[in-house]
Amino acid sequence: PSMHMEGMDHSSMDMSHESFTELKSSLGKNELIFPKLLKPDHEDDNSISYTIRAQQGTYEIFDGTKTKTYGYNGDFLGPVIRVKKGMDVKIDLVNDLNEDTTFHWHGLEVPGNEDGGPDKVLKPGEAEDIHFTVQQNAATLWFHPHPMHETGKQVFKGLAGMLYIDDANSETLNIPKAYGVDDFPIILQDKTFTEDNQLDYEKVMNEDGTTGDTLLINGVVDPRLSIDRKKVRFRVLNGSNMRSFTLHFDNNMEFQQIASDGGFLNKPNTTKEIEVAPSERAEVIVDLTKVKGNAVTLVNEDNTKILPIHLKESQGHPQTKTTKEAKTLNDLTLSNEIKNKKVTKTIKLAGMGKDVNINGKKFDPNRIDFTQKQNETEVWEIENVKDSMGGMNHPFHIHGTQFQVVSIDGKEPPENLSGLKDTISLKPGQKAGIAVKFPEKGVYMFHCHILEHEDNGMMGQIKVD
Ligand code: C2O
Ligand code: CU
Ligand code: CU
Repeated sequence: PSMHMEGMDHSSMDMSHESFTELKSSLGKNELIFPKLLKPDHEDDNSISYTIRAQQGTYEIFDGTKTKTYGYNGDFLGPVIRVKKGMDVKIDLVNDLNEDTTFHWHGLEVPGNEDGGPDKVLKPGEAEDIHFTVQQNAATLWFHPHPMHETGKQVFKGLAGMLYIDDANSETLNIPKAYGVDDFPIILQDKTFTEDNQLDYEKVMNEDGTTGDTLLINGVVDPRLSIDRKKVRFRVLNGSNMRSFTLHFDNNMEFQQIASDGGFLNKPNTTKEIEVAPSERAEVIVDLTKVKGNAVTLVNEDNTKILPIHLKESQGHPQTKTTKEAKTLNDLTLSNEIKNKKVTKTIKLAGMGKDVNINGKKFDPNRIDFTQKQNETEVWEIENVKDSMGGMNHPFHIHGTQFQVVSIDGKEPPENLSGLKDTISLKPGQKAGIAVKFPEKGVYMFHCHILEHEDNGMMGQIKVD
């Protein structure tokens, strides 16, 4: 059973809050699998259409037992949808669940109407189609449900899928890009299962974010990756309800982060660890030819084994370096004019448990908290208000836009936060300035991406016109 906060001393919890339910190391028993690429219903040079169905089913996460799960176009999790910049996209949404749901496109710059926020409910049996043109550059995005008060449960039960955007740049850069061959989605989620291996959200739910003792990657428990010794790309998505991960390798080797939430960084950032808060993405390139011996393990900050990697002896010729590695990935700029802009919107994230709020208020679907003009850049100040109980990290997310971080506590952001972001995780007391521009019109949500905080009303709305 998971530990809950009742009776615990809040002050001692502070940032170690995430260790409520300790994560078990992967035993490396099961080979990692990758979601299928979703086949379009129709495709031509500039348009593509898909059907996405939210459904319930059973899935054999543990050998010999069936876990009741939710999934998109399958029993658990979802396929990868792959679209190109410039394309007109139509998606038929179908709700085959026995409960209301919505289909939200996390990180996608779409009109508010197509965004699948809590106001876009599909009842059981209902269907609807959405249309949009892909305007933004290559990025690793994702989709998940967003119904009022039920997001935490539905994601926990398995509703989450990835959405890749490709563009001319991503298709020509010299980086690994063969899906499932050297370019791998890594969806990290922690769950707690009941004794009969069920995902019983009501039993394990924590108002401050549900954590689990069991790690799944792409829905696989005790995962391992067996692979040739070569250069690989991992597209990491933290699809957990609240747990953040700080990942490194057990041999402490360097690797390169090439992308954050909204696409490529300007140049690869050489590092030994990456941090991913709930809903964040990080793409990294790992050169497995540099590993001594035939195994290396991706571990969490406390050395919990996340993904043991077994290196097969390369058949035939060892990898030869033929072409130069990409050194320039993107050309993002942040003008002095924007850096020096006055803050026009202030967001204060505060409270814990059921008391979580933004600027002292809880979500009200009938209230518009802010307005902003389409295509106008404003600087927002986001503050995680430290309170007497210490507080906790809040990953702050905005729909319908990719923003740029201008400052963290008054200082230039580090390299890993220099790219496009749709979520920024702030520690208690931290403050960030972000430059926000909405390329489309409509009403958009902004909220904490700890799903139970979102469900508890740590969310607001902005109207863009
Ligand atoms: Cu991942 Cu409101 O979204
Ligand atoms: Cu979102
Ligand atoms: Cu929060």
